[in-house]
Amino acid sequence: MKMSIVDEILKLKEQRNAVILAHNYQRDEVQDIADYTGDSLELSRIAAKTDFDVIVFCGVGFMAESASILSPQKTVLLPDLRAGCPMADMVTINTQRNVWASFSGYREPPMFRFSHDHTLMDLLAIYPEAPVVAYVNTTAEVKAHSDICCTSANVVRVIESLPNQQIICIPDKNLSMWAAKNTNKQIIAWDGFCHVHDRITLIDVERARVEHPNALLMAHPECRYEVLEASDKVTSTSGMLKFAKESDRLEFIVGTEIGLMYRLKKENPDKIFYPMRKDMVCPNMKKTHLENVLSALKEMKNIIKVPEEIRVKAKQALDRMLSLP
Ligand code: 13P
Ligand code: SF4
Repeated sequence: MKMSIVDEILKLKEQRNAVILAHNYQRDEVQDIADYTGDSLELSRIAAKTDFDVIVFCGVGFMAESASILSPQKTVLLPDLRAGCPMADMVTINTQRNVWASFSGYREPPMFRFSHDHTLMDLLAIYPEAPVVAYVNTTAEVKAHSDICCTSANVVRVIESLPNQQIICIPDKNLSMWAAKNTNKQIIAWDGFCHVHDRITLIDVERARVEHPNALLMAHPECRYEVLEASDKVTSTSGMLKFAKESDRLEFIVGTEIGLMYRLKKENPDKIFYPMRKDMVCPNMKKTHLENVLSALKEMKNIIKVPEEIRVKAKQALDRMLSLP
């Protein structure tokens, strides 16, 4: 009898001594075959500690790269090598882009734009004392030029752990504005954004509030600042799972990629979840499916490896983040 694709994956997983990690935005069927599903921070912690020989990373490139940086002795597979993150690609060492700054000691962003054409290297020269906080949604090379990483789950904690008053924050302007609002630091922010989250506007918020007057509104910090200000809870994908589970409310509007709806509904069958917009789909996250998970494992292909010189420096930035409580 012909084996099902799921059975084939599970059998090969055993043979290869592999673990499957899936981000919360993955397709439902990919989440179902994963050993762990989580947000970027949770998955990095697991990748750093795992005893398996092979990590199949069902997510996007920077996530698999981080796993390989943290666990270089493991073989890390990315089922589709085209699964990138456009926001991560918005900052390279030499890209010129707008730069924004929050007002020092002034707790109410918005920020002002002070440059149209700076590179990351320019910023390092202008602010020699300011540490670079790199969102994990960056390439290994950019992490190697950074002091510490952060995720959407810990950005405020990471920034507050630094003694400096000025902080360079790359690449997400929205996350940086949120950090400026919630810390006492002056944030120098790169002009990057996530095309999935940045499309939500206040009009979407108002419409959702009218359609679902009893629902609490949760937003990912990659959403625009004014959307975050109008939300009931701003948190990472796994933060939303926790918030919805612990809340005594029954209805929630979900301001993030729709892949999270699967876990929200599965783990809270008595509650109702409404997507903020039905088109909040990250095409890169959807590039992974059962067929390419199977072929990656079968052929041990699409191995993610970071050159050692870059890896060692990038690991310092990730390790600093992971060492925080
Ligand atoms: P989380 O870290 O909240 O899972 O988000 C990752 C991401 O890519 C959001 O777009
Ligand atoms: Fe990148 Fe946005 Fe997709 Fe997350 S949802 S991987 S930030 S493009």
